[in-house]
Amino acid sequence: MARVDTGYDEIGYCARFRLETVSLVVFPFKDEPASLVANNIRTAARHQVVEEVWAVVAGEDNIANSLLDATRAISDETSTPIEIVLQQRIGSLRPGKGDAMNTAIRRAAEREWQRVHFYDADITNFDESWIDGAESAADRGFGVVRHRFPRASTDAMITWMITRPGLAIEFPETFLPRLNQPLGGELLLTRPALEALADSPTVGDRSDWGIDTLITYETSVLESGVYEHHVPDGKRHTLYGSLDDIRTMSLECLDAVASLHGRPAPGPEVPHGSDRPTPAPPDLKRTVAYDIEGSLRLLTSGWTPAEAELASGLPDAVEVPFLENRVRPNFAFMDADLWFAALGYLIDNFRLGDSAWESLAFRLWLSRVLAYTTGQALSGYSQAMRYLESTIGDYEKTSR
Ligand code: LAC
Repeated sequence: MARVDTGYDEIGYCARFRLETVSLVVFPFKDEPASLVANNIRTAARHQVVEEVWAVVAGEDNIANSLLDATRAISDETSTPIEIVLQQRIGSLRPGKGDAMNTAIRRAAEREWQRVHFYDADITNFDESWIDGAESAADRGFGVVRHRFPRASTDAMITWMITRPGLAIEFPETFLPRLNQPLGGELLLTRPALEALADSPTVGDRSDWGIDTLITYETSVLESGVYEHHVPDGKRHTLYGSLDDIRTMSLECLDAVASLHGRPAPGPEVPHGSDRPTPAPPDLKRTVAYDIEGSLRLLTSGWTPAEAELASGLPDAVEVPFLENRVRPNFAFMDADLWFAALGYLIDNFRLGDSAWESLAFRLWLSRVLAYTTGQALSGYSQAMRYLESTIGDYEKTSR
């Protein structure tokens, strides 16, 4: 933190020092509507602790003229410098969000930024309270602040079915599996966390959707601790259509959590704190986050002998009903216990980039998501959320 001399105090004429925050806000973006990106940039640029805003863009073609015009106007209005930064090629996997995050992480580390906020560009309810909440937890000494928020009971299906269970399997009895949004792109990194990430080869390599998992893990082992700031209204953003829309994300997040196998767990000395959750807004409780009909046919189409062969490594209780999908959709069997077994098999063996493994992993996950959506999710929001949370606790207790 920069130390700024604010002069003399009234009584003793002694020099006083105020710790001044020097904060940067970063929005990675690709094809989100320019007006939405500009609104979010404006909100950040108007905030008094924010000294600069960067929008990290996936490619030159994604820079709309209207965004350039808007950023110039916002910068004039707020006197906050705004930079559109082109995403660099840093990692070795599919070039994606990880390259964007790493571009900003390395650039901010080189330029001595003390606090860096990241927000996904597609948030439609971003306001100054996100920045305030994160800054206030950082003022209290937490090295990393993650935003947490209520989500629809059928949203967050990668978080609930892959990332949190994976963290429960790999790091039981730590705060890692209990983090509310381990895939969240909304977080504040203070300088030590920023430097640790900039120096981490595994973070640098993770150019795809796996980046959030890697950042979550790498920051969880830093002694400065993690705080979860609660956003009561939820994160409003575009929901996916069929689950096919998040196929790549699900596979890359699976690969990312599997890549943590054998890494040390955060010790009990790492501070973790969280705001208390508040009841979810009523409209979120009614939202169905994806199109079930459109997702069903994905269970049965495009089977290959290679995929069926890989399925033979699953326990019989999963393999036999699962293979029925070659003929007709069959998913209701995939309860939390069978998914635990299937996920364990995937964590041990999955190969990103191998089409048979990718198809198998996606179809197993689909079965689990559809079983939950047409089962527990129908029993009402609160019950569904309690159920999901209980599966994570159970996975922590189950040894493989
Ligand atoms: C998740 C993604 C889909 O959290 O937003 O699961």
